[in-house]
Amino acid sequence: MTTRLDFRSDTLTVPSKTMRARMADAEVGDDYYREDPTIRALEEYAAELLGKEAALFVLSGTMGNLVSIRAQVPHGSATIVSSTSHIHINETGHLAAVCGLTSHPLPTPDGRYPLELLNTFAPVQASNQRPSVLNPTLKLICVENTHNGEGGRCLDVDYLTELRSFASARGLVFHMDGARFFNAAVALSRKPSDLANPVDSVTVCLSKGLGAPGGSIVAGSRAFVEEARHWRQMVGGGMRQAGVLAAAGLMALRENIDDLAIDHANAKRLANGLKEMGLDVNTAAVETNIVMAYVPDEFGDPRAFHSRLADAGVLALSPKGKRLRFVTHRDLSTADVETALERIHKITRI
Ligand SMILES: Cc1ncc(COP(=O)(O)O)c(C=O)c1O
Repeated sequence: MTTRLDFRSDTLTVPSKTMRARMADAEVGDDYYREDPTIRALEEYAAELLGKEAALFVLSGTMGNLVSIRAQVPHGSATIVSSTSHIHINETGHLAAVCGLTSHPLPTPDGRYPLELLNTFAPVQASNQRPSVLNPTLKLICVENTHNGEGGRCLDVDYLTELRSFASARGLVFHMDGARFFNAAVALSRKPSDLANPVDSVTVCLSKGLGAPGGSIVAGSRAFVEEARHWRQMVGGGMRQAGVLAAAGLMALRENIDDLAIDHANAKRLANGLKEMGLDVNTAAVETNIVMAYVPDEFGDPRAFHSRLADAGVLALSPKGKRLRFVTHRDLSTADVETALERIHKITRI
């Protein structure tokens, strides 16, 4: 039987035997009373790793972004978001529905807002000038690092520092959706705390390439984290003996970050192989574990091509136009990537 090689997402990773054993053995208590020692250990470890005063364990990346933003930004104000970001497109509209914000979606080619565009969009206000009575007050700028929709591109410390200056000069909160934050840290060879330093708040996911079955962390100042804890409760995210889940997160942070480099090397190999077969891939843009490949006309309809891949046991995310997304992760070995390339090669020769 053909084994299924699943490149749809790094969210598909399943907890390893060791991780399951750590979960089974976790010491737990009621987190409402802050008496779950494993959750506390995870929050303390994450805060230290990210160089922030405090951290909070939340159920998902979406919840992390929601509570981070709701905790810091008043209802009725406005935010700058990447037009291709997860927060803007894929989080059920919480920016509007829960946070009460107007969004200004701006383009982010290569994952970055062009700085000239930002300056034109939001020039610094002279101190004696009030913003127009017509407009919601701009209070927030969000970034995504790595940027999933733009092919897993990394935002480096220099760029983030420039955005920090942009935000500070305008009194904006600066939030980072770091669902794949550690992929960026590994690819850029930067300490996580250096990469998180420019932002006020960051969400990081434990459940993607790091292999935990669920859970995310938000980190920032102590006051911010207490406010985020309040909003976590409001949206039903209060936890009890969830140390069983936190134990997986703790292992993910302590032991699995370095392995992301393997996923990145596998993504490069996949990208080069796909390009050699005639798919249109910008291999230089493959910085982490995401490969965007465009199906050329001679391979026929992208949906039919995608189905042929699936029939051969190679799963990619459903095409957007001509674009297929492949994501490498810890449950796909280097040998699996070679097998996938052999299978795809057969299809492209038909
Ligand atoms: C960039 C990005 N942000 C946030 C999320 C949300 O994470 P979750 O699925 O845990 O809510 C995802 C999930 O895939 C993501 O890719």
